[in-house]
Amino acid sequence: MGNFLEDGSRKDLTGFKMRAAVLILSQILGDFTSGVPIPAPEFPEKCTSEENCCMPYPYTGKPVRQFTIDPNLPLRIRRPVHKLNDDEIAKLEKGYQLLRSLSESDPRSLSNQAKLHCLYCDNGIYYPGMIWPLEIHNHWLFLPWHRMFLYFHERILAELLDDDSFALPYWNWDNQSEEEVANTLPDIYASNRSSSLWNHNRNKCAQQPNIVNLNTVGGCTEKTPTELRIENTRLMYTQIVSGAPTPRLFFGQAYSYGDGGGHGPGTFEDNPHGTVHLWVGDPDAPNKFDDMGNFGRAARDPIFYPHHANIDRIWTIWKTMPGKQRMEPNHTDFLDASFTYYDENADRVTVKVSQIINTTLLRYEYEESPTAWITNGQKAGYENSIPVCNPMNPSQTNAMIIATPELTIQDKLGAEPLTFRVPRPERSDVGVEVLEIEGIKVDGRFQSHWEAYLFFPSVDINTPVSCPEFFGTFNFVPHVGQAQFNRDRVWRVAVKDKLVALGKDNYTDIIVTLVQFGPNVQPLGIGKARIVYDASPATLE
Ligand code: C2O
Repeated sequence: MGNFLEDGSRKDLTGFKMRAAVLILSQILGDFTSGVPIPAPEFPEKCTSEENCCMPYPYTGKPVRQFTIDPNLPLRIRRPVHKLNDDEIAKLEKGYQLLRSLSESDPRSLSNQAKLHCLYCDNGIYYPGMIWPLEIHNHWLFLPWHRMFLYFHERILAELLDDDSFALPYWNWDNQSEEEVANTLPDIYASNRSSSLWNHNRNKCAQQPNIVNLNTVGGCTEKTPTELRIENTRLMYTQIVSGAPTPRLFFGQAYSYGDGGGHGPGTFEDNPHGTVHLWVGDPDAPNKFDDMGNFGRAARDPIFYPHHANIDRIWTIWKTMPGKQRMEPNHTDFLDASFTYYDENADRVTVKVSQIINTTLLRYEYEESPTAWITNGQKAGYENSIPVCNPMNPSQTNAMIIATPELTIQDKLGAEPLTFRVPRPERSDVGVEVLEIEGIKVDGRFQSHWEAYLFFPSVDINTPVSCPEFFGTFNFVPHVGQAQFNRDRVWRVAVKDKLVALGKDNYTDIIVTLVQFGPNVQPLGIGKARIVYDASPATLE
């Protein structure tokens, strides 16, 4: 097992021993062990990995270095893929050609970068004495880990191209405009089999001219382009604006040293991040949804990188939206967490989350693109003007509240929609009102997906997410190596703006309906549902 890396030297581990014993106990009890941030892991010498993500070792043999910002790098502007000019395209293709031609012993090669991503979310990296492998999905370190993974990916390409000004493009799938086609699989990644940007394992329905389905469960759709554009816009609004006004909701649950498995992603990680992965992956591949639809192999597909550049870009946009709580978590378990990567010289480098919050300091920025989703596709101030799909007058609403039981521990979400009532506690001025569903049991080997609606028990799998009653989705992307360490999941989403939009903010209870669909509808155990107030980042809650 590896030690921790800090400032390029091995750290004395004795100080950790006592704490590790306590942590192991709390892992067994399944507690959240706040108090110690993730230390930068050492890559394993004896590597185990269910999904074959082990990388060659040792690499350059040089000591690990601590990342420092390089203020002399030129400012790189990451541009939307669909707007790249011929020179930019030629450079990008050249870069991936070079990346693909690196030897298998070079950790910078495309396949080894995919393995590094896999190693961090399979059962590949353990801390001494820990029973859980490290995981970088389904919790608040998802966004920062991927930001730095992309940073070094970009620096590696720049090094191979001998051009420090090289910038990764972003895939602007959130832009539904009809004039510029931004929301299809980008032409340069999809149209030419001999291009270095091409990947074999992709969904046949994710090809041009089909536009992205941000709420997909994989495969094809019958929806028209107009329906998809409207649904994509409103889904973005729900997941990122109305559903996630706090860091706890946007980034996800806390994850600290000793905490087992990721079990509470942010709304944004679930969807559209996870759903775009599924949309690109091939449902007919021997490993269903390869490559993009399985985290173990996703980063083999060059589209992974512009997809994640867009994720990273939306993080920067989210912070600028109105709301007092739209900021990064300020807890030291977040800011002091560190990770190890390979840099442009194939040397190991450790990075602390607090070093990478400001992208301008990292010397890159995003070119602006339209963001109609911020106002739900409406004129600003008219976000709530969309007619409801299930109109009910006050006496019908009251009758529904009286007639609907609360969730019980026996309730399972299967192929039939599940409806239950959740009482609202006394209003609080501190934080935002959030629905929390705890104790969700998912089989981690399979994908899982549900949608949630307010005051709309008659929904079915055909109800569009463009209905204002839609208030969030749960979406789980399988990763096999972690399945055996699976923990119950928690799902949280803000409800206040949606209740206001529905004219239902003055009721004592809310009525929630969950509808599950997709290729493997599993009987999901659902533990308990309640309303909480989320005051993050001031508190972890
Ligand atoms: Cu590590 Cu988009 O996944």
